[in-house]
Amino acid sequence: MQNKLLDLLKKTAKQGGEHAISAVQPARYLQSLNQKQVGVGKTILITGASSGLGAGMARVFAKLGYNLAICARRRERLEDLKQELLGRYPDIRIEYRTLDVTDYDAVFDVFNAFKTDFGHIDRAIINAGVGESRRIGKGSFEINRRTAEINFVSALAQCEAAVAIFRAQNQGHLVVISSMSAMRGLPGYITTYSASKAAVAHLAEGIRADMLVSKLPIDVTTIYPGYIRTEINEGAKPLPFEVDAKTGSQAIVAAIESRVEEACVPSLPWSIVGQAMKHLPLQVVSKIS
Ligand SMILES: NC(=O)c1ccc[n+]([C@@H]2O[C@H](COP(=O)([O-])OP(=O)(O)OC[C@H]3O[C@@H](n4cnc5c(N)ncnc54)[C@H](OP(=O)(O)O)[C@@H]3O)[C@@H](O)[C@H]2O)c1
Repeated sequence: MQNKLLDLLKKTAKQGGEHAISAVQPARYLQSLNQKQVGVGKTILITGASSGLGAGMARVFAKLGYNLAICARRRERLEDLKQELLGRYPDIRIEYRTLDVTDYDAVFDVFNAFKTDFGHIDRAIINAGVGESRRIGKGSFEINRRTAEINFVSALAQCEAAVAIFRAQNQGHLVVISSMSAMRGLPGYITTYSASKAAVAHLAEGIRADMLVSKLPIDVTTIYPGYIRTEINEGAKPLPFEVDAKTGSQAIVAAIESRVEEACVPSLPWSIVGQAMKHLPLQVVSKIS
C-alpha cells in the first residue's frame, strides 16, 4: 500500500514537471521529443487539418515522426500539406480524406476508414471549427445555429467515433480544441461561439470522468487556445497577446504531448487570464472581452 502510494506520488511529480516544462518552454520540450522521435510507428488523426492550427499541428507532429490521418473539406489543401510533409519527412505515412463534419454518417465512416488504413489510431484531435457568431436576438439564428452545430454537435460525432475506436483498442488519446472564450459566457458577437466552446470542454471533461470511472487507459486533453492568427480571425485588428500560427501550434502540440488534462495555450499569459476570467465579475469580463 505504502509502495503504491509512493509510486503514485513519484508518477504525479514526474508528470507535473513534464507539464511545467511543456507549458513554459514548449520549443525546448519539443526539441527533446524530436531527438527521441517519439511519434515513430504511431498515428494521429486531425480534423480541420486544411489550414491554421490543424495544419500547424500536423507539421509539428510530422517532425516528431508521427503518421498522419488528416481531413477537412478542402481536398487541394490536404493534398498540398501531404506533399509538403512527405517531401520533408519521407519516412512517415500520410492519408487524407475529405470530410464535412456536419455529415455525421461520414464522420464515422472516415474515422473508421482511417483506422482500417493504419490498423491503429493513437490520438484523435477534434479541431475542426468555425468562428462566425452574432449578437443574440438580432435575426442571425441561422449563423449561430450553424456555429453551434459545427463546434459542438459535430464535435460530439467526432468524439463518439474516436472513443469507439479507442474502446475497441483499449488505448487512445482524445484531444478537444476548445477556446479561452469558453471560460465565461461572453457578450455581443461571440456569445454563441463561446457557448459552443464551453459545451465541447464540458463534453471532454465528461468523457475523461467516464474513462476514470470505467478505469480505461484512454486519456482526454482539453486545449483552450488564446488568440492565434489563422483564417478564423483573418482581417481582424491586432488581437490581445496574439501569436502566429506556428508559435500557437507548437504550444498546443507541447501541451498535448505532455498529456495534461487541460491547458490554456500559450500558457503565458493565458493560464493567468483564464483564472482572472473565471473569478472576475461578469461586468468586468464583458468589458475586456
Ligand atoms: N485561432 C484562434 O485564435 C483560435 C482560438 C481558440 C480556439 N480556436 C479553435 O481552433 C480550431 C482551429 O481553428 P483555426 O484557428 O485553425 O481556424 P481555421 O484556419 O479557420 O481552420 C478551421 C479548420 O476547420 C475546418 N472546418 C470548418 N468547418 C468544417 C466542416 N464543416 N467540416 C470539416 N472541417 C471544417 C476547416 O477546413 P475546411 O474549410 O477545409 O473544411 C479548417 O481546416 C477551431 O476549433 C477554433 O475554434 C482557434
